[in-house]
Amino acid sequence: MPLPTRVRLIDVGPRDGLQNEKQPVPAAIKIELVHRLQDAGLREIEVTSFVSPKWVPQMGDNAEVMHGIRRREGVRYSVLTPNMKGFEAAIAAPRAEWPDEIVVFGAASEAFSQKNINCSIAESIERFAPVVEAARAKGIAVRGAMSCTVGCPYEGDIAPEKVKYLAGLMRGIGVARVDVADTIGVGTPRKVQAALEATLAHFAVDEVSGHFHDTYGQALSNTLAALELGVWNHQSSVAGLGGCPYAKGATGNVATEDVVYMLHGMGIDTGIDLDALIDTGVFISQALGREPNSRASKAIRTKRAG
Ligand code: HMG
Ligand code: MG
Repeated sequence: MPLPTRVRLIDVGPRDGLQNEKQPVPAAIKIELVHRLQDAGLREIEVTSFVSPKWVPQMGDNAEVMHGIRRREGVRYSVLTPNMKGFEAAIAAPRAEWPDEIVVFGAASEAFSQKNINCSIAESIERFAPVVEAARAKGIAVRGAMSCTVGCPYEGDIAPEKVKYLAGLMRGIGVARVDVADTIGVGTPRKVQAALEATLAHFAVDEVSGHFHDTYGQALSNTLAALELGVWNHQSSVAGLGGCPYAKGATGNVATEDVVYMLHGMGIDTGIDLDALIDTGVFISQALGREPNSRASKAIRTKRAG
């Protein structure tokens, strides 16, 4: 199969990235990050999550961040909503501040489901169903994130059948598209392809996105393996921010800068300005007091300085 000629990147840095920061990150910095991402050409941004602030304090400013962002036409802003309480909070603001898309998030592993959202896979689907229905009724798009599709920090290897099962449940409640997440970055190309193929039993290739954490340095290879299957929607974090608070040791998503460098080098269009993206990664990393976790960023900045 020929590789896709264009790729749509969803930057999840403001959410997946910053949710894991120990130090408080001011809402103004998060808002500025969203603005810089959209100015760099990102057309999908996962902004925040409407989860319990006791579980994830870092996202407690969700409403403030959604209120503060300056919307740009053609950009899709998404937020995580694990239950009706989260969904109601996400639409408590005036319509102009509603998310364009909400994300329900489940897991292919029972143990991870329990640790992350405090319920079984079956219970999670029961909680998601009214959220999906309510969102659709209001004209809000719905995505489903599927965690631990390759490996789980508690259960180890995850069989593709479990991914297929979850994808079927997500399809059954009306989720329009799904993310196949390697939450702890243990996947290698063939395993990731098996998880994607299991998902493709229930979703069309245009409805599936790859969400690869880079813990073992496999995320770019896994992205290429997904492209080989025609999967052209991918999630990444500027500056490689992040990790999941309920997946100990898991590092950030693959850096958006590294994915863009690879894709552009292959002649694949992303609509993203790599230089502006690198500056965005520097901005957020400086705010956090560290270097961007992106090899392409480092190399290009070294070259610039020379
Ligand atoms: P629970 O304790 O089972 O919920 O948590 P509950 O319904 O029993 O409510 C308990 C308390 O939480 C109550 O407050 C509720 O009002 C409140 P209290 O009476 O004790 O004061 N509550 C809420 N508050 C705000 N917003 C809400 C909400 N719901 C209940 N939406 C719950 C269940 C899902 C809420 C909890 O487990 C939770 O918030 N988990 C957060 C999980 C999370 O955010 N994880 C990180 C994101 S997932 C991820 O990173 C993976 C991904 O990137 C893909 C990948 O890489 O795998 C997407
Ligand atoms: Mg993630």
